[in-house]
This record gives sequence, C-alpha cells and structure tokens, in this order.
Amino acid sequence: NRNDRYIVASIRENVGWIRLNRPEVLNALNLQLISELVAVLTEMDRDENVRCMVITGNEKAFAAGADIPEMAEASSVEMLIQDQLAEWDRLRKLTKPLIAAVSGYALGGGCELAMACDLIVASETAVFGQPEILLGVIPGAGGTQRLTRAVGKVRAMEMVLTGRSMTAREALQVGLINRVVPPELLEAEAMNLAKKIAQQPPVAVRLAKQAVLKAMDMTLENGLDYEQKLFYFLFSTEDQKEGMRAFVEKRKPRFQGK
Ligand code: CAA
Repeated sequence: NRNDRYIVASIRENVGWIRLNRPEVLNALNLQLISELVAVLTEMDRDENVRCMVITGNEKAFAAGADIPEMAEASSVEMLIQDQLAEWDRLRKLTKPLIAAVSGYALGGGCELAMACDLIVASETAVFGQPEILLGVIPGAGGTQRLTRAVGKVRAMEMVLTGRSMTAREALQVGLINRVVPPELLEAEAMNLAKKIAQQPPVAVRLAKQAVLKAMDMTLENGLDYEQKLFYFLFSTEDQKEGMRAFVEKRKPRFQGK
C-alpha cells in the first residue's frame, strides 16, 4: 500500500527487498528517498514475515551520495535545524539484519548507507569511496567512523583525505565487504545470503546482530559480559530447546521465533 516515489519495496521468501530507484541521478540520496527508505525498513523490521532486508540499487549505481544540489546552498543553521542525518540514525535502531547489494557507485552517503548495513555483497563493478573532501566537506553519515572501524586508520585516512575510491576487489581485500560476484549474479547472491539468514532462529539472529554491533563500541570486558547475558537469555526461548534437541535427535530443527 506504499506510495513511494524513489524506492521500490517487496517481500519474498521472508526477505524484504528494497531497490533505490532514482536512476536519473545515480540514486542520489535526497531527503525524500531517505525518508521513504527508513520508513519501509522500519515497517519491515516490525513485520513478522520479514526476517532479513536487502537494499540494492541498479547496475550503474547503488547510490552516488547525498543529493548535492539539495544541500548546495544551505547554511549551517539550516542544516542543523533540518537535521537530515537524524533520519539516518534510525537505521541503527533496526533489529533485523540488513544486506547491501552494491553494483556501481557507492560514494559518499552511498558508501555510508552500505556501511550502515550489516553485510555487503558487491558486484565486480562496485566502487566505494568518500569523495566529500572534494566538495569542501567531510562525510556526515558515518564515513569517518564506520570506514575507519572497517578498514583501519591509514586506509580510511587516505580515502577521506584524498577522495580516492576503492574497487570491489580492494574493498574485499581490506575487509570492507563480504564478497564480490559478477554483476549478473549480484541479486541472486544477495538473495541467497538473505534467505540463509532468514532460515535461522529470529530471536537469536536479533541478539547476534546486537552483540556484534556492540563489539564496535564497547571494551572487550563489557562486550564479553554483554554477550554472556544475551547467551543465557536465549535459554528461555523455544528455539534454543528445539535447536539443541534437533541436534541430539539428529534431525532438522523447526524454528518458530519464540
Ligand atoms: N547528487 C545529485 N546528483 C548527482 C549526484 C549526487 N551525489 N551524483 C550524480 N548525480 C547526477 C549528475 O548530476 C548527473 O545529472 P545530470 O544528468 O542531470 O547532469 C547524473 O547524476 C549522472 O551523473 P554524471 O553525469 O556525473 O555521471 P558520470 O558517470 O559521469 O559520473 C560520478 C559518475 C563519478 C559518480 C559523478 O556523478 C560524481 O562524482 N557524483 C558525485 C559523487 C559525490 O561527490 N558524492 C558525495 C556526495 S556528499 C555526501 O554524500 C555527504 C554525506 O556524507 C551524507
């Protein structure tokens, strides 16, 4: 029932599939697109039929960044009041795994959107970069933070300070992305990965995602404590009983998300 202008969303086999659809400007992320994207993701996050979400673009572009003309003449006070990045923050609250399926340009906000996802599958044509410096600004949606955590200080510095982008191969080599496939296999690969996750027990998946994300901003000590509590908590789920009994009885488990 959605009336989206810049995205196309569907659900199949428990996977929420969202295509960024503003091809005339390489899927530049204007306010409307981001707000539609966040709205549909929030809706899918609450939908029991959805177990995992995939965000993709088209062959030429995942997204070439925030919409430059839209912000070109803004003052800092206007930027602050409008606070468009607050919308992006809502991506962090999503509890279900998100996969970015990237072909072509993932630049600026496009790279940041991919990095805000939990896994990244790329086609051989994918290009990742943070060219904001070339526009007189710096990344604003996580580029200096998530990129640094993903690939380390010196590589992040080079990309953020010079605007140089990375090929899919390089991105794979430095651990920014999960895998690289030929362009024609990208969607099938992302769908397979999503379906694999969709088959796992949903409560455990949710807590696993939470725990891994916490590793990014907790001390090891606190992170280990946090993990232990979530681990113990899972023993109150039926899926834990089912998963372990099925193993003992040498059969396949049937998970119900309880
Ligand atoms: N915003 C708005 N429009 C964009 C855009 C963007 N980020 N990126 C591309 N477009 C538009 C172009 O203006 C062009 O429109 P017209 O046909 O009307 O002229 C259309 O998309 C096709 O682009 P090009 O003709 O430039 O295509 P190309 O193949 O020659 O080049 C490119 C591709 C190298 C990606 C080039 O378009 C480019 O450099 N884009 C800008 C990338 C960028 O700087 N992104 C960072 C944005 S800032 C940001 O994201 C801030 C943040 O952290 C939140």
